[in-house]
Amino acid sequence: MSGVVCQQVAIEFPSAAGPIKVLKGVDFEARPGELTMLVGPSGCGKTTLISVIAGLLRGATGSVNVFGQQVTSLSNRQLVPFRLANIGFIFQQYNLLAGLSVIENAAVPLVAAGSPWPDALDAARDLLNTLGLTPHLTKLPRQLSGGQQQRVAIARALVHKPRLLLCDEPTAALDGKSGQAVMGLLRDLAVSPDRAAIVVTHDPRVYAYANRIAHMEDGLLVNVEEVLPAQLATTH
Ligand SMILES: Nc1ncnc2c1ncn2[C@@H]1O[C@H](COP(=O)(O)OP(=O)(O)OP(=O)(O)O)[C@@H](O)[C@H]1O
Ligand SMILES: [Mg+2]
Repeated sequence: MSGVVCQQVAIEFPSAAGPIKVLKGVDFEARPGELTMLVGPSGCGKTTLISVIAGLLRGATGSVNVFGQQVTSLSNRQLVPFRLANIGFIFQQYNLLAGLSVIENAAVPLVAAGSPWPDALDAARDLLNTLGLTPHLTKLPRQLSGGQQQRVAIARALVHKPRLLLCDEPTAALDGKSGQAVMGLLRDLAVSPDRAAIVVTHDPRVYAYANRIAHMEDGLLVNVEEVLPAQLATTH
């Protein structure tokens, strides 16, 4: 079983000075049962790459395969159910729904995938409790701190137990202890053999949660480091 396999992924964005190549032929793999970290300087293309993998950003050339499905060949119409069923995405800017409470935000992916609201709210409540958010369930996102909003976004990405979890800087707004707890949860999700997680990070404190660290520079994957089992952080 393959997890995520990207071959020669390239994309350019228009600019006043002409098109800018942001991904220049990326070969990247995230193996099932593993947490793969994606690191590299600001602007090198990390968010762009995981957005292409999720099918949130179209127009890339090359091939992106997610658990056997060729994402690049799905139509926009086919992508929505594929994403709902298989992918959890934690955005760099959280993207919480401003008019919904914390618990409703976290429950949305299950409802969108067809669960009744009461069941979805129960699952969301459990996960939010694990993330230390029980006192905030009925608040609106704007009433929370950045770190609390980030944890709601994490709950929302995990609630439907996606096969592929894509996380853009999930610990950026968290203190050391919450960051470790979140990474433990993300690793627990990834360790099963039919799931995988890709985590973009600038935070060296969490490198020990990775099975593999993929380094990007200027639109290309330049190096992949394997983290030896003895160096892996224990999650329990
Ligand atoms: N929609 C867009 N239109 C034009 N240029 C874009 C667009 N999105 C990203 N870029 C450019 O593409 C490059 C890569 O952006 P990307 O967001 O993938 O970087 P990143 O590695 O995630 O950086 P950071 O660590 O700061 O989040 C940057 O130079 C950015 O300015
Ligand atoms: Mg980014």
